[in-house]
Amino acid sequence: MARGVEGKMRLGLGVMLSAVLAAGLAGFCQGGVTSSFVRKAEKTADMPIDSDVFAVPPGYNAPQQVHITQGNHEGSAMIISWVTEDEPGSSDVLYGTHKDKLNNSATGKHTRYSFFNYTSGYIHHCTLRRLKHDTTYYYAVGIDHTVRTFWFTTPPKVGLDVPYTFGLIGDLGQSYDSNITLSHYESNPKAQAVLFVGDLSYADNYPNHDNARWDTWGRFVERSAAYQPWIWTAGNHEIDFAPEIGEIQPFKPFRHRYHVPYKASGSTAPFWYSIKHGSAYIIVLASYSAYGMKLRRLLFQRNIATDDELQLNLLSFTGKYTPQYKWLEEELPKVDRSETPWLIVLMHSPWYNSYNYHYMEGETMRVMYEPWLVQHKVDAVFAGHVHAYERSHRISNIAYNIVNGKCQPVEDESAPVYITIGDGGNLEGLATNMTEPQPSYSAFREASFGHAIFEIKNRTHAYYAWHRNQDGYSRVADSMWFHNRCWRSPNENQC
Ligand SMILES: *[C@@H]1O[C@H](CO)[C@@H](O)[C@H](O)[C@H]1NC(C)=O
Ligand SMILES: *[C@@H]1O[C@H](CO)[C@@H](O)[C@H](O)[C@H]1NC(C)=O
Ligand SMILES: *[C@@H]1O[C@H](CO)[C@@H](O)[C@H](O)[C@H]1NC(C)=O
Ligand SMILES: *[C@@H]1O[C@H](CO)[C@@H](O)[C@H](O)[C@H]1NC(C)=O
Ligand SMILES: *[C@@H]1O[C@H](CO)[C@@H](O)[C@H](O)[C@H]1NC(C)=O
Ligand SMILES: [Fe+2]
Repeated sequence: MARGVEGKMRLGLGVMLSAVLAAGLAGFCQGGVTSSFVRKAEKTADMPIDSDVFAVPPGYNAPQQVHITQGNHEGSAMIISWVTEDEPGSSDVLYGTHKDKLNNSATGKHTRYSFFNYTSGYIHHCTLRRLKHDTTYYYAVGIDHTVRTFWFTTPPKVGLDVPYTFGLIGDLGQSYDSNITLSHYESNPKAQAVLFVGDLSYADNYPNHDNARWDTWGRFVERSAAYQPWIWTAGNHEIDFAPEIGEIQPFKPFRHRYHVPYKASGSTAPFWYSIKHGSAYIIVLASYSAYGMKLRRLLFQRNIATDDELQLNLLSFTGKYTPQYKWLEEELPKVDRSETPWLIVLMHSPWYNSYNYHYMEGETMRVMYEPWLVQHKVDAVFAGHVHAYERSHRISNIAYNIVNGKCQPVEDESAPVYITIGDGGNLEGLATNMTEPQPSYSAFREASFGHAIFEIKNRTHAYYAWHRNQDGYSRVADSMWFHNRCWRSPNENQC
């Protein structure tokens, strides 16, 4: 029976590879700009465990790794998460709109997990509900022992012309470069929330996936993630599937540490979900589904596939008739562009990528979902995974029907702009090897670390800018004005 499954997968892979070959033969014409910016070439190193950014806060049972994310669909709730090391302590959060008067409280829960010979601290999650929009709240965690206080501002009420500025960070890791990326992001006074496109700590690059590196990462990003919501996408470095040390439950550390409000959008798993945030509707998709992971585990246990084959099987099972497929099919028609004009999709593995890394990994997913994204006029798709930067023109590749030979991306005004922003700065280093010539769909590409800003001005306009680490904050290495796909003019919604 397992053989049968495997045979079908091989067949599917064959069809996919034929499409690749056809595309290759047809050839691409010369594309956009490949930046010749010269950056330092050596591989980046992780910050040592005793670095200032990993310091444990002082005090008995002091809360650490504090981070927040949106807690419901509309943005009137916030999930507060933190870790205590010595004892569970309290999972309560005290909060209020005045610094000295935290007269509201909410009660959360704590959990912990083990991974090989590591045991986590007590991981607390507490949701603050019925918050007022566009309001600054102060909150305290660590009640009864060492108390630490932070603050955040809730997103504005959902609406047509609500200005809002998102930061975009991917594949961050915890290297010296990661620290520079985060520092540059923080120096933008306008940035209000982070859209994180996956691959958080890279703890899995350490022996036995040393989960202490999940803790250091949590302490590292606290300086931003405790004060503004980070919207999470799961990447391959969140899978933490390690049967060689008996760890066969995928996403275990990620699921325990990072909660997302997936149930609020009718999703059945934290890897795909949606939120409304100001004037934006954000859909997070899974490039690696648990559905695929179950199969992977099965194949691995029966020892019938090599790791490469498993990787491909895993990717192909993000596809049709999976829970994510059904969810997205029902989700896209729910987006009301006269309420949230901007439609943004986040995923980890890019669909359009002209670097010689992770070639075609996003292909199965693209074939399934690209027609829907074009039909629903998604404004932008942000992805990570490839450790470099790239921005596409508005293109689609949905006309192909096996016989018509139309297998190349073509200009398409209804299509999103695809941006790869996997250049947060992790220890694996930059992807510098690009396909030549630059494909026509690629508008700009550069192998440098950095982050981006998506600044929504009103229903028609958003300013997008990519900041390369080497330039300090004020200089922008790539930018474009986004014109909303539905609101080409302020008077008419064309969707
Ligand atoms: C907390 O204090 C604020 C400001 O004085 C007040 O508006 C609010 O109603 C109070 N909340 C509770 C639960 O007492
Ligand atoms: C876990 O095992 C590794 C390898 O045997 C060892 O180096 C490490 O110190 C152990 N960690 C803990 C927390 O016991
Ligand atoms: C990380 O960046 C912060 C802020 O720029 C700086 O204070 C800190 O010393 C840096 N730490 C390391 C290890 O680079
Ligand atoms: C870049 O990638 C191509 C395709 O995988 C390979 O043939 C080539 O040797 C690589 N170039 C360098 C400099 O690594
Ligand atoms: C929307 O923002 C753009 C860019 O700031 C501006 O040029 C345009 O006039 C604004 N539209 C309206 C209706 O205010
Ligand atoms: Fe990745």
